Amino acid sequence: MADNANIHLIDHPLVQHKLTLLRQKEVSTNNFRRLVNEVSALLAYEVLRDIPLHDVEIETPLETMTGRVIDGKKLVFVSILRAGTGILDGMLSVVPGARVGHIGLYRDPKTLIAVEYYFKMPQDLAERDVVIVDPMLATGHSAVAAVDRLKELSPKSIKFVCLLTCPEGVAAMQDAHPDVPVYTAAIDRELDEHGYIVPGLGDAGDRMFGTK
Ligand code: URA
Repeated sequence: MADNANIHLIDHPLVQHKLTLLRQKEVSTNNFRRLVNEVSALLAYEVLRDIPLHDVEIETPLETMTGRVIDGKKLVFVSILRAGTGILDGMLSVVPGARVGHIGLYRDPKTLIAVEYYFKMPQDLAERDVVIVDPMLATGHSAVAAVDRLKELSPKSIKFVCLLTCPEGVAAMQDAHPDVPVYTAAIDRELDEHGYIVPGLGDAGDRMFGTK
């Protein structure tokens, strides 16, 4: 992995603790989903560390003061279907006013290439900051395709958030979109021949939705 890779490893103890719990194969669908939500809410703190604040006049029970608030509506969480849904829910629990976009991409099982089947974004993306969410940055095909597509709409900024990645995924993003920061809770050893991250956590979508 290049030393200058635009990657933020979020090694907060709470994030690492919950990630270890959800990697374990005996975790139930229910607990897996809950843990993905919790980790994602924690990741949001780090990912949104630099979002702008503006002043508002408020009244406390004692006096008037100037407080600072974010403009959640300027933020768009873009979920890569279907596994992005879990991260999206966790992030929305922290920023409920954010807008939401969806990109439907599936991995062709033979080529592992990302094929788009759905794309729906809020209006005026040029005035908004985009955070793309997908639990696994594996081959990088879906992530690169999602960023390619979003760049066509010229948002103010784009970040990419995942739970796990691997050197191959980081390299793919770095090659295609070195300007897009990647936030992750872990960089695992490698991809296997089926495009799974190892040691990883298995198929995030199947584990989240109980489809296997
Ligand atoms: N997608 C998953 O759900 N898991 C992986 O390990 C890789 C891609």
